[in-house]
Amino acid sequence: MEERIKQIRETFSTLDPKDLQSVEKIRVEYLGRNGYLTKLFDDFKNIPNEKKKEVGKILNQLKSEITDKIETWKNVFSESTKPKGTNLDLSLEEYPFEFGTRHPISLVKNELVEIFKYLGFTVYEGPEIEDDWHVFSALNFPEEHPARDMQDTFFIEKKPDILLRTHTSSVQVRSMEKEKLPIRVICPGRVFRNEAISARAHCIFHQIEGLYIDKDVSFADLKQTLLYFAKEMFGSETKIRLRPSYFPFTEPSAEMDVSCKLCGGKGCSVCKYTGWLEVLGCGMVDPNVLELNGIDSKIYSGFAFGMGLERIAMLKYQVRDLRLYFENDVRFLKQFKNY
Ligand code: DAH
Repeated sequence: MEERIKQIRETFSTLDPKDLQSVEKIRVEYLGRNGYLTKLFDDFKNIPNEKKKEVGKILNQLKSEITDKIETWKNVFSESTKPKGTNLDLSLEEYPFEFGTRHPISLVKNELVEIFKYLGFTVYEGPEIEDDWHVFSALNFPEEHPARDMQDTFFIEKKPDILLRTHTSSVQVRSMEKEKLPIRVICPGRVFRNEAISARAHCIFHQIEGLYIDKDVSFADLKQTLLYFAKEMFGSETKIRLRPSYFPFTEPSAEMDVSCKLCGGKGCSVCKYTGWLEVLGCGMVDPNVLELNGIDSKIYSGFAFGMGLERIAMLKYQVRDLRLYFENDVRFLKQFKNY
C-alpha cells in the first residue's frame, strides 16, 4: 500500500497540464469515482488495524496535495482563458462628452486682438455700467444730443446719470484717465442700446474700440492702420474707402467701407450692388476730447475707431440674422468648429 501511494505521488508530480480540459482529465483520473485515490481509500479498509493510523495519515496527505494542486491549476487556467479587458464596453462612444466650440463673436474678437497686437495695441477693458461723463460728456457729446435720449440708452439711475454703456468709446476715456502717454489700446466689450430686437438690431451687442494718442499722429497713420486691419481680416486683395461722416468725439470723422469679397467689388445682393460694405467709424480724436481728458492738444494728437463685432462676424461668416449670435443654439454654434 505504501509503495502504491509513493508511486502515485511520483507520477502525479510529473504531470504538467496545459489547459483546463487536461486538468479536468487529471481530476477524474485521480479523484473521480474510479480514480486512483478512491481505489486506495477502498483498499485502505482492508489493511491491518495497527497500520491504519500511519497509512491513513500519508493517504490523507496525498489526497490534499492532489486536491490543492488541481485547484491551483484550475485557477491559473481560468484566469488565462478570461478575455482581456472584460470590464470595458467597447461598443461605447470613445468620449461621451462633446467638446464645445468657440462662439463666432469670440472668434472675431480674438482675431482682431491678434491683428492689432501686431501693431502694438494692447487690450484695455472698462465697466459695462457707466456714468454720463465716460459715455457722453468726456466724449464731447452736446447736452442735447439724441444719443442721450431715453430711446437709445438704458438708464439705471437719473441725476446723476448711471447707465449701461451704449458704446465702447467710454473705455477711451477710462484709458486717458489712467494711462501714461502714448496710448495705444483696443477695447472689446458688450454694449447696450434700447432697440427692438430683429434680424438687423439687438439691444445687446459687441464693439471693439481703438485709440492711439501720441505726438504727430496723423490721418495717414489712421488710414494705414485700417488698411492693414482690412487686409488681415478680409484678405490681402481687400480695398478700403473712407467716407466723410460725423461723430462728436472725432474731427474729421469718417466711415470705412471694405470692398465686397463675395463679388470682388462688382456688385451683388450682399453689398446691395454697390461693391462696398460698411465696416466701422473712425476719425482723428477731437482736440476738445483731448482737453476734456487733460491731454494737451497742442502737443498730442490721436486717432480712434470703433466697430461692431456682430457686423464683422456677419461679413466674415455670412450669417445675417443678428439674433442667432445670442440664442446659443448649439446647431448654429457647432458650425464654427473649424474656424
Ligand atoms: N462709438 C461709435 C458708435 O458706437 C463708433 C465709433 C465711431 C468709435 C468713430 C470711434 C470713432 O472711436 O472714432 O457708433
